[in-house]
Amino acid sequence: MTVIANKCPEIKVEVVDINPTRIAQWNDEDLDNLPVYEPGLAELIAETRGRNLFFSTDVDRAIQEADMIFISVNTPTKTYGKGKGQAADLKYIELCARSIAKAATSDKIVVEKSTLPVRTAAAIKNILDNTSSGVQFEILSNPEFLAEGTAITDLVEADRILIGGDETPSGIAARNALSAIYEHWLPKEKILQTNVWSSELSKLVANAFLAQRVSSINAISALCEKTDADVDEVAKAIGLDSRIGPKFLKASVGFGGSCFQKDILNLVYIAKSYGLQEVADYWEQVILLNDYQKKRFAEHIISTLYNTVSGKKIAFYGWAFKKDTNDTREAAAIYVADALIEEHAHITVYDPKVKKEQMLADLNYLGTRSAEENEKYLSVVNSAYEASQDAHAIAVLTEWDEFVDLNWSDIYQAMMKPAFVFDGRRILDDQQLNSIGFKVYKIGQS
Ligand SMILES: NC(=O)c1ccc[n+]([C@@H]2O[C@H](COP(=O)([O-])OP(=O)(O)OC[C@H]3O[C@@H](n4cnc5c(N)ncnc54)[C@H](O)[C@@H]3O)[C@@H](O)[C@H]2O)c1
Repeated sequence: MTVIANKCPEIKVEVVDINPTRIAQWNDEDLDNLPVYEPGLAELIAETRGRNLFFSTDVDRAIQEADMIFISVNTPTKTYGKGKGQAADLKYIELCARSIAKAATSDKIVVEKSTLPVRTAAAIKNILDNTSSGVQFEILSNPEFLAEGTAITDLVEADRILIGGDETPSGIAARNALSAIYEHWLPKEKILQTNVWSSELSKLVANAFLAQRVSSINAISALCEKTDADVDEVAKAIGLDSRIGPKFLKASVGFGGSCFQKDILNLVYIAKSYGLQEVADYWEQVILLNDYQKKRFAEHIISTLYNTVSGKKIAFYGWAFKKDTNDTREAAAIYVADALIEEHAHITVYDPKVKKEQMLADLNYLGTRSAEENEKYLSVVNSAYEASQDAHAIAVLTEWDEFVDLNWSDIYQAMMKPAFVFDGRRILDDQQLNSIGFKVYKIGQS
C-alpha cells in the first residue's frame, strides 16, 4: 500500500487493522519503531504518510469511504478441527468479509490480496451478497508475489501482476480499474488478467515451485556431503542450463517464512480434498525434506560436538528466517534451537533486527517445554563478538551480510577450542576460517 501511495499521489490509501498496537507502530514518529523492517520502507513511509497514506483502526469508516478494498488479513494454517495442520484458516477472511458487508453503503470492488485456497472468492461473494443491504460487490483476486527483504524492489520492478476476475462487463470493468493502479508504474504487458480460479491457484503454485527448488537442492546437499561433491559447484553447473536457470538453487538449513510451508500445506489439502492423493503426496515431500534439513543440521552439530551439547554454549548468528527482515515465522533457527535445547545446550543469539521477546515467543509457541525453561537456555546479545565469547560452536542460521566481514581471528580467540563453525547458509569463506584454526562444517560440502 505504501508503494501504491507513492506511485499514485492522486489516490488516497488507508490501511486499517483491528490491532491498535500495530497501527500505533505504523503511526510512530520514530521510523525505527515501524512493526516491519524492510529495506527502503521507512523512507517511503516518511514521504507518503499523512499525504495520501494513512493508518487507522477506524475500519467501518474506511470501508464506507473506499471504492476499492484490499483484504490482506492473515490466512494461517488451521490449528484445530477439520484440516488441522494443513488447510488455511479462513476465519479472519470471513470476519473481514462480514465487516465489509455490514459497513458498506455503496458499491465496492473487493480485492483478495491475502493468499487463499482456490475458490475462496465464491465464498466471499456469497457472504457479501447475502449479508449486505443491496450494495453491489465485484470480487477480484490479486495475489501478492513480493518477497520479504526485497519487498519494495519486487513491487516497483514486479515480474508480473496477476488480476483474476469475472468475465462479465462489471467484472472486466473492475479488473481494468485495478490494472489502472499498477499501470502508474508498470507496462501493461506485465499485468495479466485471468479468471479468478487461475489467479487464486497460481499464487499457491508459484510458492510451491519456489519451495520445491529449495528442497531439491537441499536434498542434493545431503548427497554432496557423502560424495565429496560441492553443492555450489553442482548448483552452478545445473543453473547454467537455461531450462533450469540459476535462481533459488542455494543450499541452506531450510526455507522458513510465513508463506512457503502454509501455502504448500494448503495445496496438499486441496489436492486431497479432490481425491488427488498422489498429487498431495508429491507436494508434501517438499515440506518433509525441509524438516529433514533442519533436523539434520541440529543432529550434525550434536554429533560433531562429541555427541553431547549439554551445558555447552552455542552461538547463533541470526534468528530471522532470511536476511533483511525482522520476520521470524517458521525460521529454521527456531527448530534448530529447539532440538539443541532438548539436549540442554545454552543458545546465545545475535540477530541485528529480531528482539529477544520474539525469539522466546517463537520457542514457547512450539510448546516443547515451559517458558521458564526456554528462558533459562536462551540468551540474546547485541553483537556477534559477544555471542562468540566462550562459545563451543557458532551456527550461522541467517545470511545477514555483516557476518561475512567479521574479524574471525578475534572470534576464534574468544571461543573454546576446538572452535567449530556450522555454516547453515554457506556465506563464510571456509578456507580462511580453516587457516585461522576453526573446524568448519558447511551444508552441502563434505
Ligand atoms: N508476508 C509475506 O511475505 C506475504 C507475501 C505474499 C502474500 N502474503 C499473504 O498476505 C496475507 C497477510 O500476510 P501478512 O504476513 O501480512 O500477515 P500478518 O499476520 O503480518 O498481518 C495480517 C494483519 O491483518 C489484521 N487483521 C486480521 N483480521 C482483520 C480484520 N477483520 N480487519 C482488519 N484487520 C485484520 C491483523 O491484525 C494483522 O495485523 C496472508 O494471506 C499471506 O499469505 C504474505
